[in-house]
Amino acid sequence: MKHDNWEKYGTISRILHGLMAAGFLFMFATAVAFNIDEKYFSLMSYHKSVGVLLLILGVIRLIWAIINHKRRPPNLMVAKAGHGLLYVLMLGVPLLGALRQYANAKGGLDVFGITLIPAAPQKIESLVQLGNQLHGELGFALFVVVAGHVAMAVWHQIKGEKIINRMFG
Ligand code: HEM
Ligand code: HEM
Repeated sequence: MKHDNWEKYGTISRILHGLMAAGFLFMFATAVAFNIDEKYFSLMSYHKSVGVLLLILGVIRLIWAIINHKRRPPNLMVAKAGHGLLYVLMLGVPLLGALRQYANAKGGLDVFGITLIPAAPQKIESLVQLGNQLHGELGFALFVVVAGHVAMAVWHQIKGEKIINRMFG
């Protein structure tokens, strides 16, 4: 198992990045489906389960990034800011969804049928409103930022700075 170093991301960083990228692709697909036809709300329990798993993985990934930040490949300020924004949204969006789920007092936080946190004993209106106003909007904003992130990675690769090799090569 390889550790992060100045040239490349290590095994654990790569697994977290890849697993979560696949997870976010799924979240994007479900969110788009909800907007195409209401019948796809049948996918909601998967949206919630995968979303809660992404929140847990995101917290682990943030801790991992902090522990290893001194030995990771160097980046320009603007790339660091971009990755910072990805972290804010990648944690904030599921957190807002999970808080609303809890505050609605209807059902607990479930991951594929296993209840991690039971619902609040009574409705907490402010948190529900916060989720209503921000969860979906910031969710779509995240997808836009991710599209930019992937475009930048490809752009740098084409320019000859083998940036994709740091994460995948
Ligand atoms: C990584 C995580 C997540 C992302 C990127 C994400 C993204 C989104 C997006 C883009 C929408 C569509 C909004 C719209 O059509 O206007 C949505 C809807 C929804 N999400 Fe999530 N979500 C995540 C996690 C969660 C979690 C953890 C929960 C609850 C436990 C949740 C519950 C919901 C619900 C109930 C809706 C429908 C109501 C609404 O549009 O706000 N989501 N999500
Ligand atoms: C197929 C899609 C993706 C590709 C090709 C890709 C590519 C890359 C590359 C090449 C790096 C290393 C950049 C560097 O060292 O300068 C990186 C890092 C990073 N990527 Fe992605 N990425 C993808 C999807 C995602 C998604 C979906 C997210 C988050 C929602 C994400 C979040 C991050 C973050 C936060 C970093 C910084 C390192 C870390 O803390 O893990 N990426 N990505």
